[in-house]
Amino acid sequence: MGVVHGPEPTTCAPRRPGVPLGHPCGVDDEDAARVAIRPAGPQDSAWAASLLAASWGSSHVARLGQLIDASSLPALVALDGERRCGLATYRRDGAATELVTIDADPTGRGIGTRLLRAIARQEAAAGARRLWLVTTNDNLDALRFYQRRGLRLVAVHPGGAAVSRRLKPTIPEVGRYGIEIRDELELALVLPATW
Ligand SMILES: CC(C)(COP(=O)(O)OP(=O)(O)OC[C@H]1O[C@@H](n2cnc3c(N)ncnc32)[C@H](O)[C@@H]1OP(=O)(O)O)[C@@H](O)C(=O)NCCC(=O)NCCS
Repeated sequence: MGVVHGPEPTTCAPRRPGVPLGHPCGVDDEDAARVAIRPAGPQDSAWAASLLAASWGSSHVARLGQLIDASSLPALVALDGERRCGLATYRRDGAATELVTIDADPTGRGIGTRLLRAIARQEAAAGARRLWLVTTNDNLDALRFYQRRGLRLVAVHPGGAAVSRRLKPTIPEVGRYGIEIRDELELALVLPATW
């Protein structure tokens, strides 16, 4: 089966009134407010490489039949005081920016939202009109996270994970929630974001 493309998003999906971006796990919004975001520098290299290895098995990310060394990309770092607590790597190509990796530690405390917002704002200011990314069919938490923040599903690559696994054999067969990792899903956000 070939790639299934959805319509290009024309605008950010408005959030339904009464369903604010929040933290139903009881996390205080002050947690998120304390988090600062700054561009990654050489002093972050070792930490970033070890975070990428812990989260993705190595610094290399495979998607859409391509292997990318995320540790060589520009990145934003989230800081809680002195402690690094999140990383987002990205690459710009003309008017589109790909979010290659995003990781929060701990999750569920607003760090990912802060990173995503910072990338969206930065890239829009730099002239990007579109922020896009690829995730896999098992990553239900990420799918929720992105869709709640206005990203739209724009393409499905059935069997895409098998192609990526040839480039990166350490991609597991079974992912989150015991779901087989089979397909790659492309999501996109029109910039500037409205949140
Ligand atoms: C996806 C990810 C970057 C999101 O960052 P985050 O800091 O967890 O996100 P936030 O806390 O800003 O928001 C997460 C949402 O899930 C909710 N949540 C509740 N408990 C949670 C938990 N234990 N873990 C994650 N999210 C939780 C939050 O309340 C929030 O809900 P909302 O959408 O209704 O506002 C992060 O979960 C992560 O690092 N995941 C592992 C790596 C990954 O899969 N990256 C994406 C690759 S495509």
